[in-house]
Amino acid sequence: MKILAVESSCDETAVAVVEDGRKILADEIFSQVALHEIYGGVVPEIAARSHLEVITLLADRALEKAGIGRKDIDAVACTYAPGLIGAVLVGVNFAKSAALALGVPLIPVHHIRGHIAANYLAFPELEPPFLCLAISGGNTMLVDVRGYTDMAVLGRTRDDAAGECFDKSARVLGLGYPGGKPIDDLSKRGDDRAYDLPRPWVNDGNPYDMSFSGLKTAVVNLAHHAQQTGQELDKPGLAASLCRAVSESLVGRTMAAAEQLGYDKVAVAGGVAANSRVRADFEAACRKAGKKLFVPPLRLCGDNGAMIGAQGYYEYLAGHTAGSDLNAYATMEL
Ligand code: KG4
Repeated sequence: MKILAVESSCDETAVAVVEDGRKILADEIFSQVALHEIYGGVVPEIAARSHLEVITLLADRALEKAGIGRKDIDAVACTYAPGLIGAVLVGVNFAKSAALALGVPLIPVHHIRGHIAANYLAFPELEPPFLCLAISGGNTMLVDVRGYTDMAVLGRTRDDAAGECFDKSARVLGLGYPGGKPIDDLSKRGDDRAYDLPRPWVNDGNPYDMSFSGLKTAVVNLAHHAQQTGQELDKPGLAASLCRAVSESLVGRTMAAAEQLGYDKVAVAGGVAANSRVRADFEAACRKAGKKLFVPPLRLCGDNGAMIGAQGYYEYLAGHTAGSDLNAYATMEL
C-alpha cells in the first residue's frame, strides 16, 4: 500500500511516499529555517504561508522521486495534531483535497505517533511493545507503545520541552536558531563539568514526569550575569554541561520505566534524539542494562513526511480514517 504523507506542523514542509509503513519511496523536505532565523524562532504566520507556497510542488516532486503517478497512491495521510495551528491547517487541507481528488482514504496522524514510527522505517525488525522517549522541540514524553496504535503516556514534561530548553539556551548564547545542533556541536569542545547546572527533579506524583524550564532559566541567568559583569563565559563548557544535564534528566527516567514495565526494547524519537550526548548515554545505559536500543538516523529524527506515512499505514490498518470533516488541532492527547 502506497501512502502519500504530509507533515506541516511546524517549520518543515514535508511530503513523502511510503510503502506498507516501512519502505520510503520518496521523502521531500523543505526547511523554513532561513525564513525564521532572523526572528530567533518560528513565526507562525510565516510558517503557514510558506507551507502553502511549497506543499503542492513538494508533492509533485515526491511522486516523481518515487517514480509513480497519482493513480498509484492508495491513501493520503497527514499530521492533524499537535502543532502550530495555522501550519497544521495547511497540510490537513492539502491532504483532504488530494484524498478527495484521488478518491482514496484520508488518514489523520498524531505528530508524536509519527516521530515514534520513524523507528519502524529505520528498523524493520522493530515491533511493539516497546518503550519510547519522544523528545522534540514542542513535546517531551515517555510513551508505553503497547501496539502500533495503542499507546499510553507514562510521563511528560510539566513545562518546557527538551528541545525548547536547547533552543532558548542557544539564543542567549548567540548560537542562532534552531539551537540544538549548534549546542551539540559546541559541546564537543567543552568540559561537561564546567558548570553545575540543576537537575530538575519532579518530586511529587509521577516519577516519570520531567521539567526543563529551571535548567533553561539557569543557562539564561548565567549568560545575563556574565554579560552584566563583563565576565567571559566558557560557552563550550556550558554547552557540554547543558547536554549532560538534559541527557541525565532523560536517560535515568527512561531506563527506570523500561525496567518497571519489563521492556527489553527502548526507542528514542524526535529532533532531540539527534543529540550526540543523548545518543551516547542511551547506548551506554542500554548496553549496561542488557536492553536493545532503537534510535533513528539523524535525518529521521527531525520532522519528516516519511514518519507520517509509516504511522499512517498502521492507523489505516486499525481503521482510523477520517471523513471530509477532518479538522486540525493545536493540541491533542496521544
Ligand atoms: O522533532 P523536531 O524536528 O520538531 C518538532 O516536532 O518539534 O525537533 C526540533 C527540535 C529543536 O528544538 C532542535 O533544536 C532540536 O530538535 N534538535 C536538537 C539537535 N538537533 C535538533 N537538540 C539537541 N541536539 C541536536 N543535535
